[in-house]
Amino acid sequence: MSTSHEPTPGMEKHPLFHPPEETLRNAHVQDYVKVYQESIDDPAGFWGRIATELEWFTPWTSVLDWDPQTYTGRWFPGGTTNISHNALDRHVAKGYGNKVALIWSGDSGEERVITYSQLLDSVERLCHGLHSLGLEKGDRVSIFLPPTPEQVISMLACARMGLIHSVVFSGFSEAALKSRMEDAQPKLLITADAGFRRGKEIPLLQTARAARTGILSIRNTLVVRRKDPRFPVDASSGEKAFDELLEKNRKKGSFPPAPMGADDPLFILYTSGTTGKPKGIVHVQPGYMVGTYLTTRWVFDIRDSDVYFCVADPGWITGHSYIVYGPLLNRTTVLMAEGAPDWPDPGRWWKLIEKYRVTVFYSTPTAVRLQMRHGEKWPSGHDLSSLRLLGSVGEPINPEAWMWFRNVTGGRLPIMDTWWQTETGMHMITPLPATPLVPGSATKPFPGVEVDIVDKNGNPVPDGESGLVVIKKPWPAMFRTVFKDPDRYRQYWTEIPGMYFSGDSARRDSSGFYHLIGRIDDVIKVAGHRLGTAEVESALVSHPAVAEAAVIGKPDSLKGESLKAFVILRQGKKPETEEELSSLRKDIRHHVREELGAIAQPDEIEITDWLPKTRSGKIMRRVLRARELGLPEGDTSTLED
Ligand code: WT7
Repeated sequence: MSTSHEPTPGMEKHPLFHPPEETLRNAHVQDYVKVYQESIDDPAGFWGRIATELEWFTPWTSVLDWDPQTYTGRWFPGGTTNISHNALDRHVAKGYGNKVALIWSGDSGEERVITYSQLLDSVERLCHGLHSLGLEKGDRVSIFLPPTPEQVISMLACARMGLIHSVVFSGFSEAALKSRMEDAQPKLLITADAGFRRGKEIPLLQTARAARTGILSIRNTLVVRRKDPRFPVDASSGEKAFDELLEKNRKKGSFPPAPMGADDPLFILYTSGTTGKPKGIVHVQPGYMVGTYLTTRWVFDIRDSDVYFCVADPGWITGHSYIVYGPLLNRTTVLMAEGAPDWPDPGRWWKLIEKYRVTVFYSTPTAVRLQMRHGEKWPSGHDLSSLRLLGSVGEPINPEAWMWFRNVTGGRLPIMDTWWQTETGMHMITPLPATPLVPGSATKPFPGVEVDIVDKNGNPVPDGESGLVVIKKPWPAMFRTVFKDPDRYRQYWTEIPGMYFSGDSARRDSSGFYHLIGRIDDVIKVAGHRLGTAEVESALVSHPAVAEAAVIGKPDSLKGESLKAFVILRQGKKPETEEELSSLRKDIRHHVREELGAIAQPDEIEITDWLPKTRSGKIMRRVLRARELGLPEGDTSTLED
């Protein structure tokens, strides 16, 4: 287990940082202790009150219907609503149609500004178009798009019609896209002629065309002409141009949102687990809507004057919850950037903050550490005085990076270090703007969320000791199931009976602050991206020269963790010379890139003749990791030989 993110001892008893006066005055939640206590004493009352701030077509009959046999939480049963109605129509009806919903900054600096009315109009036109293609409630739609307004429009149009979107990060490979579509069985694929990163074109359509072959459920591919407005789509294989479909439906008028109840999925998002196959995490509309609405509102203290910038890609859960749904439900102006943080230069994001007078900036520890390497001259060259709040997500933020982030942005802004997961849908352990902060701690649970640190039998561990992070009660944005795999869903609740086990370890200090340490399962967080060791290993062994492979995570000063692969070569595949060896290593890395995508490429590959295994043949990654890092090996009684 990595200890590099442990907070400095001595800081924990006395939270060091208190919010500025102005933050305190304006905070939605002034008294965390009181609000938290009330929410835990009466969760139904708490969540029910919040839900009434949104619009429902039919009122719910109860707040939660929990089945302890199947661990199914049906939130707001009996009620129907629609998240796109609440994110768009509700604001337009109240006279906010001309408020800017999205500001988009393209890879090479292009800009698009879209108001709430315009966004609603595009969404409704796309709905008419999707309807004309024969799509119906419950159908799946795979979305393989660069971070562009069309990605947001596509998600919201699906939500409006009750289609289940499955967004696939545009950096994924053909094989990764294909396996996700094989599982989701979409009727439609939405992609683009190209994406852009660091000025380089990414041939998305080529990847999408190859990935779609053999997936018979797909009837059409909708192509966003991001690069070339006259790009010729291949009508013979069911391709249609996104812009033409929108144009055709210009005069069709409004499209009624589908009433969505407690059992109706909003999306499937695939994420890595401990097996080779990514799991399709399913979220349903009503509960997810209430959870993302409230967390966005309270954690970022959303006000009407905000310009909110989250650096994630809607291809991940952070983008789903905190670029698209949560912020738009709060009528926020969202800045969305395509491309890399350090291209054309390391000032990219700071420049955007200055240009658009960003008030809330939600970033990641890896990005902060990358900025640290480039140096203070980049942020200090820009006017960042519009900022009032910072955020961090995806992996533990080490106190040095936390301090740097705070210092270069004026030395006074609170940092919301938000701990949560694809499965939780919403922030779970997080500060609120008015609560005191300890650098490197995600602080305390969000109201309505009951967290504990337990041992593997579910018994609470004493404060100060590390243990497993569990959630003891259902929460509204909880995932509903794993697509087509209820057993995998159940596993989350049965490993520690009756509680949701997150896969993370943490320690709670004597002041009640949580210090997240890292994953204890076979999931590795590289630059905040979640990778399953088994997935990377199966990509490695599909290389013709590789017989066996094991992958571990190593502490990395930039990415949090890096991937190291240990590989046993097949008979007769052993290189004779150093050059051959280095070219084989390169080839293996390239192979993993082709199989999974660039984020899964191992940083190091060690050729070995032996891997530690249990007598039943399971690779003991724990032992490999301990040896690699010079740590105690722990219990090795099950090790063969
Ligand atoms: C895993 C979930 C949360 C949205 C993006 C990632 C790690 C996430 C933090 C944080 C320490 C964090 C955990 C968690 N993680 N945020 N603030 N501090 N660790 O979602 O891909 O589902 O990954 O990310 O290990 O289990 P995800």
